[in-house]
Amino acid sequence: MSENGKSFGFTGKLGFVLATAGSAVGLGNLWRFPYLAEQYGGGAFILIYVILAITFGFTLMIAEVTIGRKTGKSCLEAFGSIDKKWKWVGWLAALVPAIIVPYYCVIGGWVTKYFVEYATGNGSEVNTSFFLGFMTCDLPGLFDNPVVWFIIFTIMVAAVVIVGVDKGIERVSKILMPLLLILLIITTIFALSMDGAMDGLSYYLVPKVEDISAGTFLGAVGQLFYSMSLAMGITITYGAYMKKDVDIEKSVRSVSLIDTGVALLAGLMIVPAVIAIGEPGNKGVGLMFMTLPKVFEAMPAGEFVAALFFLLVIFAALTSAISLMETLVYVLMDKAKMQRIPASILVFVFTIALGLLSCLGFGPLGDVFLLKEGMTFLDFFDFISNSILMPIVAALTCLFIGFVVGPKFITDEVESSGSFKSKKMFIVLVKWICPIALVLILLTGLLDFFDIFKI
Ligand code: PHE
Repeated sequence: MSENGKSFGFTGKLGFVLATAGSAVGLGNLWRFPYLAEQYGGGAFILIYVILAITFGFTLMIAEVTIGRKTGKSCLEAFGSIDKKWKWVGWLAALVPAIIVPYYCVIGGWVTKYFVEYATGNGSEVNTSFFLGFMTCDLPGLFDNPVVWFIIFTIMVAAVVIVGVDKGIERVSKILMPLLLILLIITTIFALSMDGAMDGLSYYLVPKVEDISAGTFLGAVGQLFYSMSLAMGITITYGAYMKKDVDIEKSVRSVSLIDTGVALLAGLMIVPAVIAIGEPGNKGVGLMFMTLPKVFEAMPAGEFVAALFFLLVIFAALTSAISLMETLVYVLMDKAKMQRIPASILVFVFTIALGLLSCLGFGPLGDVFLLKEGMTFLDFFDFISNSILMPIVAALTCLFIGFVVGPKFITDEVESSGSFKSKKMFIVLVKWICPIALVLILLTGLLDFFDIFKI
């Protein structure tokens, strides 16, 4: 993104789709989706996720992109420019990246460490006990400390935001994103050919009703918004950069297909392998870092493939983290009238300060749990942003479209540059089904989370 919407615009449909997919495809797909799928019962989670993606994800992305394109403004201004009373929803949305970016960079640091281990020929040392020692800050060396890697990753993100090389990133994305996809497919095929992987495959693909709880819905909805970069103002800004003649429905469909496809593939690569390796169980945030090394270990030229793989994950994470950090820098430049460099430095310091809590939350701060037993700082920030703020912002966006401005506001704009095949479905979803379901999911999910009420 650039200083303002006017000096920068996507070239056409392809430009929009690639840039939005670049923001959407990130750690959400590769790291977060597989561990949630494993945690929430495999097939049951996948089924709910896909249904929600086709309905809620699609509807909300259309709504956000169109709000952006019609107003030509970022999320801070977009809501207020339509109706002053709704300005605060834009601010609420902009709060989400501030909570996510610090812990996103912590995971980015873990990925960077893994890349360096594999690239320097130390891949054979990477295993579960290595990871547990690393994440809990128990290893002695300076470069075996997760804080160091968290800072390195955050510096990389901030450096790009300071220089503002968005065009360069777009160009590199065009090569690296397809490469990531190819590597994902190769690793997945290999992981699925491991002994016992077929049992895992059925766990991953066959939904079991008893695995579905209110928490599954809350987890899936949060993941959906996170993965598609929704409910945090980003796609509104991207919509503002979209040319007036680009077909919105087709573009949104392509982005959601790419994003969901990559997530499903990443799950396919990791979840059956955990079962094949014989270590199922609730591994949470560490899943990718404990299971994948075993797949690479069993693979011919595994260390090389692993180094390449983690490099591409770094890249996917960087493009996403940059768009998150850029949003915050933009707010400071726009609202506090700061220059780009001081604004970037301020956001950098904030990221490090807040991220440190998440980074140390598995080690020195390991005894501190928030909200409930076992909830580390990282889990806490992840929960607040994904399971609480995003459903709220999403529901408010739907109500705003459905009842304040009316769905026609959106459908007219979509139809100004192409057909809107799902128009009827969009109207029913945005007006009724999404807001009602989101409120229900949020409430029952919270009751479930606090063990007050179980479905
Ligand atoms: N969608 C990104 C992911 O899946 C995360 C992200 C959210 C990036 C919002 C930018 C903006 O990792």
